[in-house]
Amino acid sequence: MSRLTVLGSTGSIGVNTLDVIRQNNHRYQVYALAAGRNVERLAEQILEFRPQVAVVPTEERRVALSERLAGLAKSEWPELLFGPQALVVISAIVGVAGLEATYEAVRAGKRVGLANKEVLVSGGRLVMEAVRAGGAELLPIDSEHNGAHQCLRGGNHAEVTKLILTASGGPFRTTPVEQLAWVTPEDALKHPTWKMGNRITIDSATLMNKGFEVIEACWLFGFAPSQVDVVIHPQSSVHAMIEYSDGSVIAQISATDMRMPIQYALTYPERMQAPVPKIDWAEARRWEFGPPDLQKFPLLKLAYDCQKAGGSATCTLNAADEVAVEAFLSRRISFPSIHRIVDQTVSKLAPRQPATINDILEVDRESRALAREFVERESKTAPAGKVTARA
Ligand SMILES: NC(=O)c1ccc[n+]([C@@H]2O[C@H](COP(=O)([O-])OP(=O)(O)OC[C@H]3O[C@@H](n4cnc5c(N)ncnc54)[C@H](OP(=O)(O)O)[C@@H]3O)[C@@H](O)[C@H]2O)c1
Repeated sequence: MSRLTVLGSTGSIGVNTLDVIRQNNHRYQVYALAAGRNVERLAEQILEFRPQVAVVPTEERRVALSERLAGLAKSEWPELLFGPQALVVISAIVGVAGLEATYEAVRAGKRVGLANKEVLVSGGRLVMEAVRAGGAELLPIDSEHNGAHQCLRGGNHAEVTKLILTASGGPFRTTPVEQLAWVTPEDALKHPTWKMGNRITIDSATLMNKGFEVIEACWLFGFAPSQVDVVIHPQSSVHAMIEYSDGSVIAQISATDMRMPIQYALTYPERMQAPVPKIDWAEARRWEFGPPDLQKFPLLKLAYDCQKAGGSATCTLNAADEVAVEAFLSRRISFPSIHRIVDQTVSKLAPRQPATINDILEVDRESRALAREFVERESKTAPAGKVTARA
């Protein structure tokens, strides 16, 4: 049995991970669960999966969690600690909050199923150095990177000329650019093909998410930004493609269900029956591919620029975006303001070379503080007022 830790067990990826475990409970034993605010769901998961360790961020939530475990004999309670004995760690905490724990898991040489792309966006160089030093296995759960991982099994790294990541194009793929100032959080949260947490759903609407994925791919697979292309594919059936030097392109295709990449990260290099629908090739279907509109979605271009700039630029990009997305979701700023705030923050804060995780967290804090100032200014110019008026 593999012992497993799920960081972010109460979120979308965490819940899907536990569903995969439920179907394979003879192979996996849940060692630890970590979550943020949702102690209700965490308590349910503890009752079902009986982990030895459960982790919440504050004492207050630990008390709230204990209250919800009152029906369980004290002797059966998990410890509220993060233990080093886990063999497999699923990193699915959203945002930079997942960085330290993932870094420690990598340093301890674990197999890490990585859903949290912000870990590599913020700390790619340090995390990858730790992977090499600790002998850890970093297996991508993000569907595009998981697809690329599968395609890369078809040839040598030196034979690869391009990685192509697909993007659904989000809910505003066909919306005229001048209407974007009017879109509401509810409009932006309607992702056409995936059901995910709020931050990643808004990032998918701005294509920032695809930009993060370009950065993540550069670190994971050792590619230069110029080797990673993005292609709009609204059906989200082809997740990634690898072009080899002879012009042959290998694509990974599967249903839009995160349980497949989660299971792949757990069972690699083996494959097992997964609890996901198969593609019915008897059905007629049409798949489209086209270039992204970088004028309309400038955050994608900014992500390439930050990765080329190197150092802490991508950490600032992520932090500023997290602040701007929160401000958009709370209706303080308009949808196009997300780009303005991120762009201003990245332009103002010169990149530096973080030497430790603490340095990264320091850059993250500074970037957030600066982004909040820009949000303050932007909200006074009141473009979000239009949104509220329309809503
Ligand atoms: N969803 C997808 O299909 C998908 C696909 C590819 C990649 N990803 C990536 O996977 C990560 C998770 O995405 P998601 O959609 O699952 O997000 P989500 O539904 O918002 O879940 C986030 C999880 O993180 C936990 N969390 C947040 N802050 C925390 C903290 N300070 N300490 C401990 N736990 C904390 C949350 O706990 P509470 O809910 O208890 O507060 C929750 O369990 C993101 O990095 C995302 O980019 C997701």
